[in-house]
Amino acid sequence: MRGLFVTGTDTGAGKTVVAAAVAAALRSGGTSVAAFKPVVTGTDEPEPGRPMDHELLAVVTGAVPNQVAPLRFGPPVSPHLAAELAGAAIEPAELVTAARDAAARADALIAEGVGGLLVPLTLGYSVRDFAVDLGLPLLVAARPGLGTINHTLLTLEAAAAAGLDVRAVGLTPWAAAPGAMERSNRATIAALGRVEVATLPRVGVTPPELAAAGAALAPERWL
Ligand SMILES: Nc1ncnc2c1ncn2[C@@H]1O[C@H](COP(=O)(O)OP(=O)(O)OP(=O)(O)O)[C@@H](O)[C@H]1O
Ligand SMILES: [Mg+2]
Repeated sequence: MRGLFVTGTDTGAGKTVVAAAVAAALRSGGTSVAAFKPVVTGTDEPEPGRPMDHELLAVVTGAVPNQVAPLRFGPPVSPHLAAELAGAAIEPAELVTAARDAAARADALIAEGVGGLLVPLTLGYSVRDFAVDLGLPLLVAARPGLGTINHTLLTLEAAAAAGLDVRAVGLTPWAAAPGAMERSNRATIAALGRVEVATLPRVGVTPPELAAAGAALAPERWL
């Protein structure tokens, strides 16, 4: 499977923005791209003025939202709890098959995780297990500000412990004029994590804006 698995240091760390920018850039460069998110939660409480993850990923890949995310739950809680509240069962093998099917329809798969790597999809199967089963290299979305060194290095350790290959950390949203702390965070994560640290400026939600911001990351080299 060719593609990237976009994880984050936390929920709300910027995974969808990074994934959408990378997918839009690859697509505008002539690569056909499929997007996949195993579980979306919180559909009861959308962010006003902002598409939901599977909607944005569908727009930038030319897909149908429900194809991007096979499992959708209303409450904004961990997938394992959302499924329990809905009386549903998440079957990891079905998610892996669905992601492989999506990858087979395109040149590259951009998969977005849920929360961070150790979030349970079921009590016995984490987002990290899913990334391992897909065999994709990781991109780690992280915040630029205070607290990000610890969160990011913890995520890199969790990835390494499972043999996952991290292609880069993406700090997002990266200010036009970052302060001394943000610039230090970037350099410190790169040095202590021995990893490329890319930055994504604040960007809108239209495909052309996302493609332009994503192209600046030159994501083809990460595939
Ligand atoms: N580069 C950016 N440009 C504009 N907004 C950004 C950027 N990076 C992060 N954000 C904002 O941060 C918030 C969280 O981003 P995003 O939804 O991508 O996070 P996530 O990790 O995908 O969250 P979730 O865990 O819900 O999937 C959003 O409101 C988003 O608009
Ligand atoms: Mg998201």
